[in-house]
Amino acid sequence: MNVIEGILQKDGLARQDIILLLQANADERNKLYAKAAEVKEKYVGRKVYFRGLIEMSNICSKNCFYCGIRAGNFNTHRYNLSDDEVVEAARYAWDNKYASLAIQTGEVSNRAFTERISNLLNRIHSETNGELGITLSMGEQTEETYKKWFECGASRYLLRIESTNRDLYAKLHPNNKAHDFDKRVECLNALKRVGYQVGTGVMIGLPFQTIENLADDLLWIQKMDIDMVGMGPYIEHPDTPLYKFKDMLLPMEERFNLALKMIAILRILMKDINIAAPTALQAIDKLGREKGIKVGANVVMPNITPGLYRNDYKLYDNKPCVDDAVDDCKNCLEARIQLTGDTIGYGEQGNSKHYANRMSKG
Ligand code: 5AD
Ligand code: SF4
Ligand code: FES
Repeated sequence: MNVIEGILQKDGLARQDIILLLQANADERNKLYAKAAEVKEKYVGRKVYFRGLIEMSNICSKNCFYCGIRAGNFNTHRYNLSDDEVVEAARYAWDNKYASLAIQTGEVSNRAFTERISNLLNRIHSETNGELGITLSMGEQTEETYKKWFECGASRYLLRIESTNRDLYAKLHPNNKAHDFDKRVECLNALKRVGYQVGTGVMIGLPFQTIENLADDLLWIQKMDIDMVGMGPYIEHPDTPLYKFKDMLLPMEERFNLALKMIAILRILMKDINIAAPTALQAIDKLGREKGIKVGANVVMPNITPGLYRNDYKLYDNKPCVDDAVDDCKNCLEARIQLTGDTIGYGEQGNSKHYANRMSKG
């Protein structure tokens, strides 16, 4: 038995085990993937849940160095869907039995925005019979705001930590209060206190990032007892400050492979959480999301943003689906998931089993 096989037979994974798994060669990594698929089948089943993704607005007050819609990028055309457009997209998700919705925006924090989201949640609730599981992804807000939205019917919240290494975090963000690592961690804790199913994630293949950093990211996510994870490869965007480091990046294919390994290892570490197959995987490999599903992911996010706006929500280059219509993504993903051998959990919200287990433990 070689080293990787030995690690995969163990009960838990230590830091050094994770580092070795992240470095596994082509043969070895297939063993990792097979093990992750086995764990997925046993603990969450071979089912993939949809979250209809509404990219509601690309207006953002922040200036993260990696992101294409950062406030300082004046080449981005800014848009903001109307409430009716959002509700119509939500109805599409409901009519098509997606059972869950994810609403994403750039980060805006003011009273008008808070109120707008509360009203929207109320409208969606009443127009879809309260049957949709709603995820919000709207950045750092006060605990009071998180609470208000939770009371209006949002049950999950995604806030990626991006990197759990403070020094690396500081290289990716401006050095000011709006981009503070501790504040972000505090927001994740607040989300937990309020009662959300809490999601986070990191980018993989960032400049200056080491394999050790990635291993620590996984252990941090485990220690935070997170319910859902979305993590994908970093893809450089030409209109961002981080672009100047493009020559020090791993080749795309290697970033892709690292991202798959991260998903697989996380599935082994945290058996009952929900893991998304992120769209960024597909920006690199045409079969990216299917590959993610094969190695442990159980959530995908079909884009249901009205076509008009899709091209403007460009966090990174090469984003897929920008020219497609809402139904295209549905049909496309249906075919893709069928190829993986999993089934789609139509009509099921697919809440995080980890959350249920966490709550029952008190
Ligand atoms: N490459 C990959 N992911 C990115 N994100 C932002 N910019 C990029 C990029 N250039 C991710 C971040 C953020 C999420 C909305 O998109 O992780 O949290
Ligand atoms: Fe804004 Fe999020 Fe992009 Fe940062 S990553 S600039 S908060 S949209
Ligand atoms: Fe959007 Fe394939 S998922 S076109």
